[in-house]
Amino acid sequence: MTNQNSPSTPLLSQDELKTLVGKAALKYVVPGEIVGVGTGSTVNKFIDALATMKDQIKGAVSSSVASTERLLALGIPVFDCNEVSELSVYIDGADEIDGQGHMVKGGGAALTREKIVAAQSRQFVCIADDSKLVETLGRFPLPVEVIPMAAQQLIRQFSVMGGVAKVRLKGNAPLVTDNGQWILDVTGLTVTDPLAFEAKVSQWPGVVTVGVFAFQKAKVCLLGTASGVKTITY
Ligand code: A5P
Repeated sequence: MTNQNSPSTPLLSQDELKTLVGKAALKYVVPGEIVGVGTGSTVNKFIDALATMKDQIKGAVSSSVASTERLLALGIPVFDCNEVSELSVYIDGADEIDGQGHMVKGGGAALTREKIVAAQSRQFVCIADDSKLVETLGRFPLPVEVIPMAAQQLIRQFSVMGGVAKVRLKGNAPLVTDNGQWILDVTGLTVTDPLAFEAKVSQWPGVVTVGVFAFQKAKVCLLGTASGVKTITY
């Protein structure tokens, strides 16, 4: 892991740090190509910045309905995953990132499409403010997209592991993802071996996607800090 600090910047709010890393990610966008785009408040800043170079790219593959709508509103063409082969880069935020580039994702319920687009991309560039940096994954409730009929069985399986899983709600009803499924948020887990954890939980019947990104980990993290954007490579 290597760190590179940019010159010091005055104290910035979390929102300003997101803007900073969103803009910094532009240098990873390859002119003439299609870029993979994640989901969330940090990625929204990236999408806004991407609009300034929209004439230099073919377009984007998006990981959610929300990102697609934002991209289109800014005049950036959106391609279906199946229309493109390998992407040079995927740019997305994270709910947590550790010192090896493993992440927890899915706070915005878009983890399944995020993992699909990430898997299609040669490198994952994570953009995050420094509140997301952790030593060990597990502080943020772990999102898991599940088939609704399996929810109670999966809640029991997480409980055997020591976790407390709850169906994510929107109002009084389960939140329904872009894929028509539910999200479980699991607290009380410490993920010391992200690869083994992802491999294990991904195989449980009814799990669509677990929010641990170890197989699709970040190659680069642009971290917004009080001293500017820190570039971490793994
Ligand atoms: C979306 O489902 C998530 O994986 C986001 O990438 C993650 O929650 C980070 O979002 P923010 O940039 O809004 O913190």
